This record gives sequence, C-alpha cells and structure tokens, in this order.
Amino acid sequence: MQELQLTIPYKSVSYDELDERRRRLVDLARRYTHNAYAPYSHFHVGAAIALDNGETVCGANQENAAFPSGTCAERSACFSAGARFPEARFEIIAIAARGTDGKELSHPVAPCGACRQALLEYEGRAGHDVEVLLVSSGDIYVLPSVRSLLPFAFTELG
Ligand code: THU
Repeated sequence: MQELQLTIPYKSVSYDELDERRRRLVDLARRYTHNAYAPYSHFHVGAAIALDNGETVCGANQENAAFPSGTCAERSACFSAGARFPEARFEIIAIAARGTDGKELSHPVAPCGACRQALLEYEGRAGHDVEVLLVSSGDIYVLPSVRSLLPFAFTELG
C-alpha cells in the first residue's frame, strides 16, 4: 500500500500585483457579470479568455426556465471563443462573480466541475497550460493551469 497525495499550486495576489494584461482580463470578467441572465439564481458570473491571437472573448452565465438548458459563464466564454476563433489557443481565463446581494464575492469564485472539464479540453487543444484567475473583491487566486483544478481528469485525447 502506498499513500499518495496531490497538492494544488496557486498564488494569492492583489489586483495591483497583476500585470496590465491580467488586470484588463479581470476588469472584463467583472464587467461581464453584468451581462449574466440569472433571474433564477441571482448569481452573476463573468468570464474573460485571452487568446494567443490577441483577441479576448468573454461570457456570462445564461439561465433558462428549463433549468439544465442554461449555461455557466465559463462555458459561455469558452464555447464562444472556440466558435469565433477555432485556430486560436487559450492563454488565460479570468472568472468573477456577484452574489445574490449584487456585490462581488469576497472569496474567489471557482468553476463548477462541468466547466473544469470543458476548459480542460481547450487547454489540451492549446497544447500548453492555461492560467486561471479566480477573482474576488479581495484576493485573486492565480492557478497555473486548468489541469491543476481537475486532478484525475477524464481525457479522451490523452
Ligand atoms: N455558474 C457559473 O456561471 N459558473 C460557475 O462556475 C458556477 C455557477 C452559474 C450557473 C448558474 O447560472 C448560477 O451560476 C448559479 O449556480
């Protein structure tokens, strides 16, 4: 028997410690929380993805009266990026959220399991790590890759 352990490397940084490019991405993720359509949960999420072609593609959660038909901000952004720029590689994704009180969360928001799985595939397509910025009104967590958020992930393509 062997006891094994996994650790997830991440940094906790302030907005001011980010470089200009990442600050811009965080600004966009925050701005896109206002584009969420969330009449049921009142939880507003925004995501912004920086691509290697210089474009940035954003998304926001879109809910539906037939509940499973809606989608999260992260998948809204990554599917849009895939559809608009199929050749571009993802480089960084920032995710921000406002809670039911309308205020930005005081702890960093983390993507749901389905979004981690979807993003992982775009990381595979990119062929390199995609940095993840989990935003809050205070600390911002910087993860080196989507993979680090989804240990033991299922991957068909290897
Ligand atoms: N949501 C996201 O957009 N991203 C996440 O990572 C978690 C949850 C959305 C889905 C739903 O519209 C609302 O937040 C409440 O779960």
